[in-house]
Amino acid sequence: MSRDIECVEEKRLDLLLRPRRNRVSAAVRSLVRETELQASDLVLPLFVLEGRQQQQEIKGMPEVFRFTPDLLVREVEKAYQLGIRAVDLFAVTDKQLKDPEGSYALCRDNLLFQTIAWVKREVPEMCVMVDIALDPYTSHGHDGLVNEDGEIVNDATVHALAKMSVLAAEAGADIVAPSDMMDGRVRSIRCALDAEGHHQVGILSYAAKYASALYGPFREALHSAPSFGDKKSYQMDPANVREALRECALDEQEGADMLLIKPALPYLDVIAKVRAATQLPVGAYHVSGEYAMVKAAAAQGWIDGDRVMQESLLSIKRAGADFILTYAALQVASKL
Ligand code: PBG
Repeated sequence: MSRDIECVEEKRLDLLLRPRRNRVSAAVRSLVRETELQASDLVLPLFVLEGRQQQQEIKGMPEVFRFTPDLLVREVEKAYQLGIRAVDLFAVTDKQLKDPEGSYALCRDNLLFQTIAWVKREVPEMCVMVDIALDPYTSHGHDGLVNEDGEIVNDATVHALAKMSVLAAEAGADIVAPSDMMDGRVRSIRCALDAEGHHQVGILSYAAKYASALYGPFREALHSAPSFGDKKSYQMDPANVREALRECALDEQEGADMLLIKPALPYLDVIAKVRAATQLPVGAYHVSGEYAMVKAAAAQGWIDGDRVMQESLLSIKRAGADFILTYAALQVASKL
C-alpha cells in the first residue's frame, strides 16, 4: 500500500497543459470568470392586491407575497436599494370584476394602472414593466377572448392588448410586456403606443413562451388558472426550438425592443440560439415552478437553496440572457 503511494508521488505525468492552474485560488478564479451575476441583471416580478396594509402568502412560493400597493411600494424601494433596476407588475383581480372579455383590464383606474402610477411617483428611477395579457381579468382564465366554439380569438384579442398597453403607458409604465402569444400583437401595440405619443415606451415581447407545466404557483398567486382547456393553441410546444427562432424574428420585425424566453432553465438551448440569432437584448423568465422546485428541495434540507438559486440564475445568464425575471431577485441581490 505505502509503496503504491510513493509510486504516484514520484511518477509525475508529463503534462504540458494543466487547466487547473486557472482554478488554483479564489484570486485566479475571479480573474478568469466569464460570467458575473449582478443585481442590475435581475427583474423582480410583484403581485399587487387591492386594499391597504396587507400581504398574503402564496402557496408554492415561499417568501413571495401578494402586497397591497402601499406595501408593494416599500418592496420596490428595497429592491432599488439592493441595485435592482426593474420590476414587473401583475394585478390580482377580484372574482366579481372578472368577465369573459376581461374588460377590467381596460378600466383606466384599475388596480394595475393605479399601482404603476403609485410606484412611478414613489420610486421614479425604477423601470416599471407591466405584463400585458387578459388572463388575470377573464372569468375563463385564458389570455385572449374566446368564441362560441371555445377557440381563442387572435385579432380581437390583439386590439384589447393594444388598448391595455396604451393605458399602461398613460399610467407611467416604462416597458409593456405582452405575454399572451397572439400573432401580430407587437406591431399593433407599437402602432397604438406611437399613435398616442408614447414613443419612449418599450416593448419586451414574450417572444418564445412555452405551454409549460411550470406556471402553476403563478396561476395560484393570481387565481388565473384556465377554467377549461389549456393554452397549447397559443403558447409554444416545448418540443420546438426552430419555431422559437421564427417567433423571435417576427417580433423583432414587428418592433419589439427586447425578447423574452420563458421558462428559463429547461430552455437554455433556446436562450443560446436566440442570443446568437438577434442583436436585441434577450431576457429569460425563471418562472414560478422553477422557483418552487428550488424552495421545496431546500425546505427538505436536500439542497442548499441559496446556492442552487444563484447557480441557476448564473447559468441562465451564461446561456445568453442579458437579464432575468426571478422571484428570488431580492434574496439573490442581498447576497451578491
Ligand atoms: C400571463 C402570464 C403567466 C406567467 C407570466 N405571465 C401565466 C400563464 O401564461 O399562464 C407565468 C409566470 C410564472 O409562472 O412565473 N399570461
